[in-house]
Amino acid sequence: MATRGPLQVERLDATFGARVTGIDLRELDDTAFQQLHDLWLDAALLIFPDQHLTDDEQVRFAGRFGRLDFKIAALSNVLSDGSVRPDDKDDEVIAILRGNMGWHADSTYMPVQAKGAVFTARVVPPSGGQTGWADMRAAYQALDAETRTRIHGLSAFHSLYYSQGELGHKPKDDADKGPDDYSGYGFHNQPPPLRPLVKIHPETGRPSLLIGRHAFGIPGLSQTESRRLLQELMEFACQPPRTHHHHWTPGDAVLWDNRCLLHQATPWDMAEPRVMMHSRIAGNRPSERARPAPHLMPQSP
Ligand SMILES: [Fe+2]
Repeated sequence: MATRGPLQVERLDATFGARVTGIDLRELDDTAFQQLHDLWLDAALLIFPDQHLTDDEQVRFAGRFGRLDFKIAALSNVLSDGSVRPDDKDDEVIAILRGNMGWHADSTYMPVQAKGAVFTARVVPPSGGQTGWADMRAAYQALDAETRTRIHGLSAFHSLYYSQGELGHKPKDDADKGPDDYSGYGFHNQPPPLRPLVKIHPETGRPSLLIGRHAFGIPGLSQTESRRLLQELMEFACQPPRTHHHHWTPGDAVLWDNRCLLHQATPWDMAEPRVMMHSRIAGNRPSERARPAPHLMPQSP
């Protein structure tokens, strides 16, 4: 690999993840990229300290893993005039930032869920604001045989209207939006996708639990049973040693596999600025595509 010193891969103290140093993400030849890609498939989360990527460099690196759903977007509480966004419960961006604190996989509410993401830290608060990931491959492996049998063949609908609605957030109409409002990504008028609770990874063949805060309504179960099962699975799955929370330093970059991990933001004092840049790698068809099944949908989630 093109390195800035000896390449070091240090496994995290969890069922997944690695910290990678001695590498410059701007300078990967094809061989180095393939090695990194293999490591990513195995570890699912790679943390690269001290990279300081520009927007263009981040987009170029993320783009090597596939087409991008969006090239680069700020997850930020800083307004376009540079001031910190007031922590107002009616503000859509704050509602989305707070929603991200629940465990989730990205874009499961879209027809094609994301493959992965590159995430970088630009401005970090003095405390709090870590990002956590949870290994759904290890969670599936740790399930007892009875639960595995129970969930095989079950699916859940995924919807951002559902998950944000649980927090009391109803999206604004486009006509009411200002320049710093949420773009509305994920709020669409198509039927919510139905996804199996056990996802087979298209590149490794490994099974993992596909759950998270966007999941609701398991066909064949009552709404109460669905909710209870999904909650029990989440509580079981997102526990050590299957979790890792990263304390950010400006310049850090991470790459994660959205096909087998959940992630969450964690709280910080929103009077403090926090600016993170997210590049979302698009999922492949048919492996990340869900078939809409509106005839199976519960009447009111
Ligand atoms: Fe996310």
